[in-house]
Amino acid sequence: MSESGSTPRVYSRIAGTGSYLPAKVLTNDDLSKIVDTSDEWIAARTGIRQRHIAADGETTGDLAYHAAVRALQSAGVEADELDLIVLGTTTPDLIFPSTACLLQHRLGANGCGAFDVNAACSGFLYALSVADKFIRSGDARTVLVVGSETLTRMVDWTERTTCVLFGDGAGAVVLKADTETGILSTHLHADGGKKELLWNPVGVSVGFREDEKNAGVRIRMAGSDVFKYAVKALDSVVEETLAANGLDRHDIDWLIPHQANLRIIEATAKRLDMPMERVVVTVDKHGNTSSGSVPLALDEAVRSGKVQRGQLVLLEAFGGGFTWGSALLRY
Ligand code: ACO
Repeated sequence: MSESGSTPRVYSRIAGTGSYLPAKVLTNDDLSKIVDTSDEWIAARTGIRQRHIAADGETTGDLAYHAAVRALQSAGVEADELDLIVLGTTTPDLIFPSTACLLQHRLGANGCGAFDVNAACSGFLYALSVADKFIRSGDARTVLVVGSETLTRMVDWTERTTCVLFGDGAGAVVLKADTETGILSTHLHADGGKKELLWNPVGVSVGFREDEKNAGVRIRMAGSDVFKYAVKALDSVVEETLAANGLDRHDIDWLIPHQANLRIIEATAKRLDMPMERVVVTVDKHGNTSSGSVPLALDEAVRSGKVQRGQLVLLEAFGGGFTWGSALLRY
């Protein structure tokens, strides 16, 4: 009870962050030996210089595990203290059990709730939003939120318009219930009507077609349509977030965007009238790691000392579905 006798409001605060990237690095020059492309083209159109690729046998769950261990260590939290694990991924290890369940067992957190969220590149923000609701409602006090992907497993390495964009990686945060402000609001959106602009059109219920079985499971994308829709959707969710919190765009200390394309990131920063010095950019080193991208960038920003306690941080993402969303937090 608070001094006035009322129950104090509960917020989710980020107690620790962690991330993990596979050892193998594939540069733009390496790619130019596989498909008809160049470092110059990729860097100019996307800002990407290199990406990390999971080793044979290294899974989304492996990446998630290493990121989670680092997040738990930085939070000073033991795995058996977790009340819940929520993991964003569109490249799970198995159809079932969920990657969150596999992670739970490996961490030794047996018994707490654990489930995956599939919202493509917005997966981490969807997972964070769900975890925040569990904490605010009082159903959980300590939650591990992970975004982990091995997206390069479903890339067509003969298709230059897509294979240059993606990489593998994972990031994680530990959220703890706190009476001090942490996550201020989250905003989630989707438009399933645009699914064919960015998708992987095979699956258990639809079936794995014969040609897909031979060719592998591949991402299909209408790049310039996705680009335009992403810029508009991110503009609108940023406005929505500021309005919901009664804030001016100049109040934001750091923008940590989904790392898909530097030009999309710059468009959102411009909308916020934000100098690029206050925008966390990792797309050059990681490529688009889908659900892994925002927590990877957040972890890098925290560990490098950029993001400081008390600062106002805006996270946003856009991806297949379409899905998009934001989270505003006082770090
Ligand atoms: N290397 C060299 N040339 C290329 C390559 C390549 N890797 N890829 C395409 N080209 C060529 C095309 O063939 C085309 O040639 P043409 O003019 O002779 O026909 C030319 O470059 C221009 O192609 P566009 O597709 O119009 O190029 P654009 O400027 O739109 O850039 C890109 C393409 C980078 C894919 C961009 O549209 C994009 O980033 N879109 C967003 C997609 C995205 O990020 N998806 C990820 C998931 S969603 C998300 O996370 C936001």
